[in-house]
Amino acid sequence: MKIAIIGQGYVGLTISVFASEHFDVIGFDNNKIVVDKLNQGISHIEGVASLDLKRWIKSGSYRATSYGADLAEVELVVIAVPTPLTKDRRPDLTYIDEACKTIGENIVRPVLVINESTSFPGTLRNFIKPAIEKYSKKHVEHLYAISPERVDPGRGDYNQKNTPRLFSGLTPAASEKTREFYSNFCDILVEVSSPEVAEAAKLFENTFRQVNIALVNEFAQIAHALGISVYETLDAANTKPYGFMKFTPSAGVGGHCIPVDPTYLAEVAEKHGAPATFIRRANEVNLAMSQYVVDRVQADNHGTLTGKKVQVIGIAYKPNVADIRETAAERVIEHLLARGAIVSWHDDLVGTWKGEKSTPLHGAEIAIVMTLHDYLSSEKVIAAAPYVFDTTGKLSGCPGL
Ligand SMILES: NC(=O)c1ccc[n+]([C@@H]2O[C@H](COP(=O)([O-])OP(=O)(O)OC[C@H]3O[C@@H](n4cnc5c(N)ncnc54)[C@H](O)[C@@H]3O)[C@@H](O)[C@H]2O)c1
Repeated sequence: MKIAIIGQGYVGLTISVFASEHFDVIGFDNNKIVVDKLNQGISHIEGVASLDLKRWIKSGSYRATSYGADLAEVELVVIAVPTPLTKDRRPDLTYIDEACKTIGENIVRPVLVINESTSFPGTLRNFIKPAIEKYSKKHVEHLYAISPERVDPGRGDYNQKNTPRLFSGLTPAASEKTREFYSNFCDILVEVSSPEVAEAAKLFENTFRQVNIALVNEFAQIAHALGISVYETLDAANTKPYGFMKFTPSAGVGGHCIPVDPTYLAEVAEKHGAPATFIRRANEVNLAMSQYVVDRVQADNHGTLTGKKVQVIGIAYKPNVADIRETAAERVIEHLLARGAIVSWHDDLVGTWKGEKSTPLHGAEIAIVMTLHDYLSSEKVIAAAPYVFDTTGKLSGCPGL
């Protein structure tokens, strides 16, 4: 069977590589640079080995393209495109709309369309299906299903095979075909009663994380005010064998999911007249952590950062990936610059960011550790500046959260 995966990023490429063992996969992406690299067997995603990609290219079961016409013969399409926030932090479905246009204009015989992009309940039924029908020149009776992606890039213990996968079709036939498809490379498939339940479950999973992270971030501030260690207190609480789950403080949440998905849930809740107070407040608390960190650093440095050389260490939003989407480091840097600090940053995984290159680990008066990649040794980081503020909780002897 020939299938297409629209979007060859973290989610789409990961799925493509797993599916290539069983299907002829066309990886469609509208970024031609990404497509060219993929066709040379060069992966741009941590967790997807270039070696695997090369193997599937060689066997003829994978190729990337930017041409919509290449999708004409496929029997199944997976949508895996970004669902970010707009500048005013509202759900942005423009990428999904574009993907629907590609499908509508190029696929003229009935196929199964599965959405893996994260969005609010009702997206499959009320947005994707009508959009594809709108863009099709003639009416085609596609099958539609949702299977929200749970991949955690850079994670070794859970992957496509052993992470349970939720799914639901708009019709029983769509559900059945979706089950058949994923059962080739997923061990545990969990069918739910409607696409809306699957869509909502995905949003709730990430909202649960966002709210708990906000709670622990607030608690870090309380612990500091009380003069006790937040980490010791959390470890103590975590000895309770039930009813407690440990989250750790940070300078804020980053990435494509935790800072974004809860806003999709809040938006749809409020549209339906339901409250989303916890969700909105958690978002505010997490966003405000960058300011709290800079306040603490300023207070420790004679109350001013003006003219001080500050290096921010670790720009990626989490260890061992180069992903800078929604990174809290950006907000920390904005606060530092607003207070007159001379800011540089170090992150050799990210390399180049906003036209600037990662700087070596020395020469600053103050270092703020945001993300500790494995390649960074604690000794080197602690020696990076006379004053090192640690937001990760991994460096002993440094001031921090
Ligand atoms: N990254 C994660 O950890 C993760 C986990 C679970 C779910 N998700 C969700 O999966 C979806 C995709 O996220 P991602 O992290 O893979 O994004 P990504 O930015 O890594 O990749 C998206 C890819 O889609 C391409 N693209 C954008 N519009 C396109 C279009 N119209 N046609 C073809 N290609 C297009 C981009 O060029 C890019 O290569 C999002 O909804 C996200 O919330 C992501």
